[in-house]
Amino acid sequence: MMNVKSVVLLMSLTIFVTLQMMSGVVSGRLFDNTKVNIVNKLSVPVVLRCKNKSTDDGPHILLPGEKYRLIFYKAPFFTYLWSCTFEVKGKVHKFDIYDSKRDNCVDYNCFWDITKNGPCQILHVYNDTSICFRWNK
Ligand SMILES: *[C@@H]1O[C@H](CO)[C@@H](O)[C@H](O)[C@H]1NC(C)=O
Ligand SMILES: *[C@@H]1O[C@H](CO)[C@@H](O)[C@H](O)[C@H]1NC(C)=O
Repeated sequence: MMNVKSVVLLMSLTIFVTLQMMSGVVSGRLFDNTKVNIVNKLSVPVVLRCKNKSTDDGPHILLPGEKYRLIFYKAPFFTYLWSCTFEVKGKVHKFDIYDSKRDNCVDYNCFWDITKNGPCQILHVYNDTSICFRWNK
């Protein structure tokens, strides 16, 4: 049997946990659900910089073979767009690495290889086939 004290304790704990989860939703940290995995498949470094309308994710240097993960919270029914620049040997290429209208990644996980001609998305649902895109003009 639970006494009054432990019931009160349990209730406050429940409220505390609920508030924590709610603030997590609001700040978008606890439930960051979308992971865009980007692998540099070139033999030279790539300087990657991705932005959405309000946030600049800052530059990241990817050495050959290195991976970067762009992580963000995606709510259902909203649209999301992350545009990136990829600097390779002093040349700057542009590509939208995440576009909720284009991408339908399994379990919110997207996988990209950066290749010589542009970015290729690996589709794990379709037997690891990939679709390659050209850099944006
Ligand atoms: C951009 O991304 C940040 C980090 O995930 C997020 O807090 C912000 O709401 C996003 N802005 C837009 C316009 O989607
Ligand atoms: C998946 O790929 C492997 C290796 O390329 C191939 O042997 C297999 O037949 C493919 N399966 C399907 C369902 O396409």
